[in-house]
Amino acid sequence: MNYRHGYHAGNFADVVKHLALVAILQHLKKKDTAFAVVDSHAGRGVYDLTGEEAAKTGEARGGLARLINLPDEMPPALAAYLGLVKEGGPSRYPGSPLLAAQLLRPQDRLTAIEKHPEEFAALKDVLASYANVQAEQGDGYVRAVKLLPPPSRRGLVVMDPPFEATDEFESLARAISGAVRKFATGIFLIWYPVKSQSATDVFLGEVLAAGVQKALTVDTQISAPEGKLDRAGLLVINPPYGFDAEMFAAAQIIAAPLGADIGVKWRAGGP
Ligand SMILES: C[S@@+](CC[C@H](N)C(=O)[O-])C[C@H]1O[C@@H](n2cnc3c(N)ncnc32)[C@H](O)[C@@H]1O
Repeated sequence: MNYRHGYHAGNFADVVKHLALVAILQHLKKKDTAFAVVDSHAGRGVYDLTGEEAAKTGEARGGLARLINLPDEMPPALAAYLGLVKEGGPSRYPGSPLLAAQLLRPQDRLTAIEKHPEEFAALKDVLASYANVQAEQGDGYVRAVKLLPPPSRRGLVVMDPPFEATDEFESLARAISGAVRKFATGIFLIWYPVKSQSATDVFLGEVLAAGVQKALTVDTQISAPEGKLDRAGLLVINPPYGFDAEMFAAAQIIAAPLGADIGVKWRAGGP
């Protein structure tokens, strides 16, 4: 467990993932009914963009830093995402559990799971002041599936593993299948790197065949130096109505400054 998200916080892949997270939560908030968020690989909650890890890679310079001076007119999810990021100040980047915690209403719940002891300790501190938010130390794949379906029967499961292990796609696909079986109507936001098209296709094929009826992918590609991540995907299962249009509209605005190609594509599910 050497992975530290601090090296990558605020990069192009984080920006698109967190934009999607905010867009989904905003859609969930359109109804008064409570929802639950389960974040299986939560990280430390907040990242110091002036810290040693961020400085070493400089990845936020190719991501968030390029979105600071966008025009005032922008789609609601993009405006909300950038608003939350700016609220924390220029050197503090919020991770997925903090963004979710900030968007919850009194009736909603968040469980954020993190395995690494130091990252978990930081996460616990960051989330301590939020009501209805639980930080848990453990294996996110196991805990997330156990927590489903949430009592509210509405909600979002975020799975964002580190892809350190060579069999991460297999573990992720297994966990998604188990989670979808228990919470078929849930929304799932899943992040993956695209290093090999064939490995990605196998992963998506396996997941989509496992009883998923409605899904889309968001594929983001940038040019990056040799050996650096240049392409990442999001699989969104059961995206809320209007999510595709919202992501497409945001992509029109952020693609040029990020120097990225962003594709939003519906995927056929299977039995
Ligand atoms: C990509 S980072 C998460 C970033 C976070 N989701 C965000 O967007 O701000 C992956 C995290 O998963 C943690 N991790 C690794 N294996 C895990 C496991 N089996 N269960 C839970 N967390 C794990 C790592 O320590 C790391 O903090």
